Amino acid sequence: MAVPLMDPNAQIAPYMTELEEIATRVLRSGRFIFGPEVEGFEQEAAEYLGVKHAIGVANGTDALSIALRCLGVGPGDEVICPAYTFFATPETISSVGATPVFADVDPATSCLDVEDVRAKVTGNTRAIVPVHLFGQVADMTALSELATERGLAVLEDAAQAWGAEQHGTKAGAFGDAATFSFFPTKNLPCFGDGGLIATNRDDVAELAKMLRFHGSKDKQTFTHVGYNSRLDALQAAFLRRNLREVDAWNAHRRQVAEWYADAGLGELVELPAVADGNVPIWHLYVVRTEHREQLMAACKDAGVGATIYYGDPHHTQPVYADLGYASGDLPVTERLCATGVALPIFATMTRAQVDEVVAAVRAGVPARV
Ligand SMILES: Cc1ncc(COP(=O)(O)O)c(C=O)c1O
Repeated sequence: MAVPLMDPNAQIAPYMTELEEIATRVLRSGRFIFGPEVEGFEQEAAEYLGVKHAIGVANGTDALSIALRCLGVGPGDEVICPAYTFFATPETISSVGATPVFADVDPATSCLDVEDVRAKVTGNTRAIVPVHLFGQVADMTALSELATERGLAVLEDAAQAWGAEQHGTKAGAFGDAATFSFFPTKNLPCFGDGGLIATNRDDVAELAKMLRFHGSKDKQTFTHVGYNSRLDALQAAFLRRNLREVDAWNAHRRQVAEWYADAGLGELVELPAVADGNVPIWHLYVVRTEHREQLMAACKDAGVGATIYYGDPHHTQPVYADLGYASGDLPVTERLCATGVALPIFATMTRAQVDEVVAAVRAGVPARV
């Protein structure tokens, strides 16, 4: 039996008819941009996250660009972020004219190492962008304290962490602002592109609403150079329905992680650790092994999906050559990029599939000593 890395279609199969009815409802409504579906989703998303404002945008990348602009980040500013993340994180810092400053990550959680962030703050630092990678939550207590002490803004890149919590607070409710992606393989998916900015700050929300619509409040007066970046009504309507499922999907992913541990996966590879107070949602289940090639070959032979996220850290990407980083500058990040491999995890995964993955891994790598 083949086990895919993820299976987004299987999780929506039980209520496909309802999704078809939702599509018909929106088609017949004639309201495709803004309107009640978008407003309804924004309100429900804000309630879910426990924030004052949620602003729908076209994707998680635009959400980052717009949120950075709302926090006043621009040319001459430095923004501290991890190099172990999807490229959109540093890309958007660069695209608003600022410079990404890469800090190392904590080997347990794969999220920003607070002490390395502290060491990298300079007089030009404007903001910190922690990424809640793979559905874990960065140490927001320590990062928020550091940000307050040094007068920095905090923008959470929560694209991979819808529903994750730290000490009872949802990822996305800690910073000055947070951003989400609803790409179809994310924990809360839509069926195209979609994104969201969450914030408790009225000024950030007001500017974000203008920037997503060409920098205007009313289509007549243009006060900023903005974006055309709207969450459309069809995706918002799907998201409202999927929002009712996401807690159960996330709980099942946590069950899968427990099954992996029960099945002895930790005897073969290093399992991701969960920091105190964190409730992860396992967007990806990334284990580490010195025998990655053998593991991937064995998974391929067994029909098990196993993929590398992320193999090349951003501080040594060609696009950032002029920033002057060298291999060895971020040792933990580099080790995780060299040893990490994502194994299957999804909301409909069975115990039998978990056992199959573990058997494939066992065939590929020696037991750890
Ligand atoms: C950490 C992170 N940030 C930002 C993004 C960008 O989101 P989108 O693909 O919706 O633009 C992603 C999506 O893959 C992501 O994983």
